Amino acid sequence: MAGSAYINYNSKDLLIAASDYASNRLMLESQQKDIMIFNINSEIEEYCKNHSEQEEELLKNLSLETTANLPEYRMLCGSLVGNALRMLASISQAKNILELGTYTGYSALHMVSAIPPEGQLITCEINKDSANFAEKYFNKSSHGHKIKLINDYANNLLDEYISNKNTSRPMFDMIFVDADKTNYPVYYEKSLQLLHSGGLIVFDNALWGGEVLEPLNPEAQAIDRLNSTIINDNRVTNVLLYIRDGINIVRKI
Ligand SMILES: C[S@@+](CC[C@H](N)C(=O)[O-])C[C@H]1O[C@@H](n2cnc3c(N)ncnc32)[C@H](O)[C@@H]1O
Repeated sequence: MAGSAYINYNSKDLLIAASDYASNRLMLESQQKDIMIFNINSEIEEYCKNHSEQEEELLKNLSLETTANLPEYRMLCGSLVGNALRMLASISQAKNILELGTYTGYSALHMVSAIPPEGQLITCEINKDSANFAEKYFNKSSHGHKIKLINDYANNLLDEYISNKNTSRPMFDMIFVDADKTNYPVYYEKSLQLLHSGGLIVFDNALWGGEVLEPLNPEAQAIDRLNSTIINDNRVTNVLLYIRDGINIVRKI
């Protein structure tokens, strides 16, 4: 039906009225773009959270302090994505992880707990205040010694690593991309050059609040372009999952 959307919910088809759908979109426009449009599934999301591994105390505190003090707290990837990242790092036996976009360190602390003592997670953040906030929590974590935080632009860091071609070019087992969305296609190409065969790149916000269906702004257009590139790229296999705001999990062949 035009102007309406059906979703499958506990085997029942629910009709989401066009007005509800529109008000969700309005809410999206008035808040950070990291908010999912799929809040119609909030009970299911809560159920999933309650039946997944619970956050450790440190992550709970980080989350609470971020939410209480920072207006952009919705940039936290949330416990489901955090758990999924940890699980991916764990089952792929990742030792070296690169993260683009640290914010307050929430996703980094999830991933680093899955890597062995000799492993390293390098995370990159341009905002000095966010980097300081994250550093404070990294210092409190028993895994903090495995984290190297770099206060620079993601692009600079990738270029620096790529240009180390003939010396000690670092290679990663997993790269989590969560920085500025308009550069996602650039980060994809550069990340592929720094990834071992069999390694993973995970893109957060791969659905951009549902706007990829009708990409009108530069962020949605860049993410949609990235998703299309990935599905047509024979160097990789992938799955695009609608957890929270979407994660695109890409495996280099
Ligand atoms: C969505 S937040 C990251 C959230 C974090 N991964 C988490 O889940 O807790 C994106 C972060 O990327 C940072 N950022 C934006 N553009 C960047 C760039 N070009 N290079 C590095 N960091 C950038 C922002 O300052 C922001 O803190």
